[in-house]
Amino acid sequence: MSQNYTIGVIKGDGIGPEIVDEAIKVLDAVAAVEDINFTYKEMLLGGAAIDATGVPLPEETIQGVKQCDAVLFGAIGGPKWDTLERHLRPESGLLGLRKAMGTFANLRPATVYEELVNASTLKPEVVKGVDIMVVRELTGGIYFGQPREQHDDRAFNTMIYTREEVLRIAKVAFEIAMKRDKRLCSVDKANVLEVSQFWRDIVEEVAVGYPEVVLSHMYVDNAAMQLIRDPGQFDVMLTGNIFGDILSDAASMLSGSIGLLPSASTGEGVGLFEPIHGSAPDIAGQGIANPIATIASAAMMLRYALGETRAADRIESAIKRTLHEGYRTGDIGAYDAKEICTTDEMGGIIADYASQA
Ligand code: IPM
Ligand code: MN
Repeated sequence: MSQNYTIGVIKGDGIGPEIVDEAIKVLDAVAAVEDINFTYKEMLLGGAAIDATGVPLPEETIQGVKQCDAVLFGAIGGPKWDTLERHLRPESGLLGLRKAMGTFANLRPATVYEELVNASTLKPEVVKGVDIMVVRELTGGIYFGQPREQHDDRAFNTMIYTREEVLRIAKVAFEIAMKRDKRLCSVDKANVLEVSQFWRDIVEEVAVGYPEVVLSHMYVDNAAMQLIRDPGQFDVMLTGNIFGDILSDAASMLSGSIGLLPSASTGEGVGLFEPIHGSAPDIAGQGIANPIATIASAAMMLRYALGETRAADRIESAIKRTLHEGYRTGDIGAYDAKEICTTDEMGGIIADYASQA
């Protein structure tokens, strides 16, 4: 009997619609061979929502995601909406959605495809074999802390974490470490910030329950440096919202392009799956964006939200095979390319391979 899933689809702005369309193409290809039925439910967020409804996060989207088994999301934002008041900007829509969905655990794997070791700006021997999982706390910290105000003569935000928030994200990170190489590095700024010392103390408490995991702590400035110096030393990195935002962008360049890296945001209920990159308005509509990050996010969705391991494996192997055979979008086109593909061609090849694999 075939499995039925309702997938929320939020294409968003900029390159969002192009890359999400490719992920859907690949999902449909695996659905056909794995006896899965996807029903897609499109919803608005960000600039597209502002244009259509006046707000970046319509109530319909908040209600709509609750009726889905998982949500696949592209990217939001663009210069067109940058001058709006902060709470009306596309980014506020995304932050509001993460909060509304309770997706506090953002998993951002930074893996280096063997075929692309030359695509990184770092030396191949430095990035070869890198396989890091960044666990970023996503619904707390300075992104959401109150009070926050901007005046003519001063402005401030608040970096706040509650015990409960740190406990639950730390548990997620330890659980992931148990399934990997059992090394966990918690990143903070405990030499300066009280909130970081608090974070560190609670991570230590949680560690007691995971004696097999080797826990270390690192200051965020050092972690940024170590990621570039010797990324192979990391297995799982646990960190708060803003440090995780910054470190995951840095980690993405180990792989050669930010256009390659997926993410999964899970937590209290329905999960949200999105590439870690933004809406890239400068290349939108040209058909040159790399859809791999979004396609890999769809694979994470199959694996983590739907438990469709075989379908997820199919997609991940198809991505590897595509790269192995030398198909490249422009962002990774400088090395070992047999053919430079458009967004649509790349999606098509991966979909093909995913249905054969
Ligand atoms: C990300 C993005 C978002 C963030 C922005 C668009 C609000 O940079 O998903 O990393 O800062 O979390
Ligand atoms: Mn970011």
